[in-house]
Amino acid sequence: MTVNIITIDGPSGSGKGTLAAKLAAYYQFHLLDSGALYRLLGLSLHQQNLLDCLDSKIDLCTEIAKKLDIKFVTSDVGTEVWLDKQDVTQTIRTERVGEFASKVAIIPELRQALFDRQRAFVQAPGLVADGRDMATTIFPEAQAKIYLTASAESRAERRLKQLQGMGLDVKIKDILANIQARDKRDMERAVAPLKPATDAYIIDSSKLNINQVFKLMTTFVDQQLVN
Ligand code: DC
Repeated sequence: MTVNIITIDGPSGSGKGTLAAKLAAYYQFHLLDSGALYRLLGLSLHQQNLLDCLDSKIDLCTEIAKKLDIKFVTSDVGTEVWLDKQDVTQTIRTERVGEFASKVAIIPELRQALFDRQRAFVQAPGLVADGRDMATTIFPEAQAKIYLTASAESRAERRLKQLQGMGLDVKIKDILANIQARDKRDMERAVAPLKPATDAYIIDSSKLNINQVFKLMTTFVDQQLVN
């Protein structure tokens, strides 16, 4: 039986995470949050004071990436994320760790080190993979490829609400600047830049709510999956 793969790529704050989780629950598929892997690696390298010398200590950093001790524990209330026996569920979602992840993500050796870990998520009955290069690099064979985007302003608004909901005191202009800087870094990097696969279904969610986007996605995915 074919293990179906659905990929959702797009810029940060486009709603990928929420929609990927919704799709995984709907189709009863496994879920890969690849951004979390980059965030975990960024956090781990920061904790070991290696983030500012990635180039000169690349062999050590690559080893750390391959051996990263991580665990995703999913229950009815969400997914807990563990790094080296620490619960980092909240920590990895902060803007600061997003910055760490973005630094890690431009290093080809580190992306390669995370390649096998990501491929290992392909398990029956299927996988929903959320990231930047899921369709273009990690799972080019995916049956359903979706590229979810939205304007930087609407993504900043959403991120503001999300962070305020977590009790964080943040300013919209800082979030927007962060998003624009991260988009630039993600889209202009030499290796696996953020871009839609040539056969991706592109959805702009700027003016759509989650349910409307979900409906577009399931209509598309239902046509693509194979038994
Ligand atoms: O989706 P996110 O915000 O959790 O991703 C964190 C960072 O990791 C972001 O700067 C882009 C990078 N990333 C990547 O380069 N490739 C992926 N497949 C997922 C995330």
